[in-house]
Parts: sequence; C-alpha cells; structure tokens
Amino acid sequence: MSDEAREPGWEPVCRLSDLEVERGVTALVHGQAVAIFRLHDGTVLALGNHDPFAKASVLARGIVGTRGDVPFVASPMHKHPFDLRTGECLDDASVSVPSYAVRVEDGVVWVGPRQPRSAA
Ligand code: FES
Repeated sequence: MSDEAREPGWEPVCRLSDLEVERGVTALVHGQAVAIFRLHDGTVLALGNHDPFAKASVLARGIVGTRGDVPFVASPMHKHPFDLRTGECLDDASVSVPSYAVRVEDGVVWVGPRQPRSAA
C-alpha cells in the first residue's frame, strides 16, 4: 500500500463500481457533503450537495442531463441546473455551488480539493 496517493486534501470515498451511471451519491469529504456523479462516459464529477436556492442538501438526488455538451444536474427541488464540471448554474452565472477535483485510481474514487472558480 502506498501512502503517496494520500496527498493532503484527497480522500477516498467509494469504489467506482458503487456508482450507478447518472445516479448521484453523497459522501462527507473534508466535513462537507459532496454529491458524486458518474456519467455515461465513465467521468466522475463532484459538486457540493447543497442547493443554494432550495436551501437544502439535495443535489445528489437531482436529475442528470446535458445541455449541448455541458453535463448538469438539475436540483430535484426547483430544477435549477448546475454544470457538473464547474458548479455554475446554467441559468444564472452569478450562482454556483462548490465543485471538487475527482480522480479514479485502481477503481477507487478520490475527491480532492474544492476547485477554484474559473474566471471571476
Ligand atoms: S439556480 Fe435556479 S435557475 Fe439557476
């Protein structure tokens, strides 16, 4: 077992095979509730689970879809769509949820640090 994968800020959360395509799961990472999604192409993406509009932790139960080539999850409460790559709301760029770096190693999904917002 190597400790090298244990970089600060990265936590193993589940096995890739535990994730159903387009069904979110939640995990506690760095004390934050994170919603993790596996896409059809095998990409795994992670957003904060909290929907700032509904003020509820529901995004993992949202509906996954695409708009153009942008993968999003629509909140189950008010249907606000958030870009799964950046956390930005597709209908209101002033609103976003945190997005987290993700990688898959040896079938294990790791969630890393919160990603900086792209251009401010
Ligand atoms: S957050 Fe509601 S439409 Fe964007």
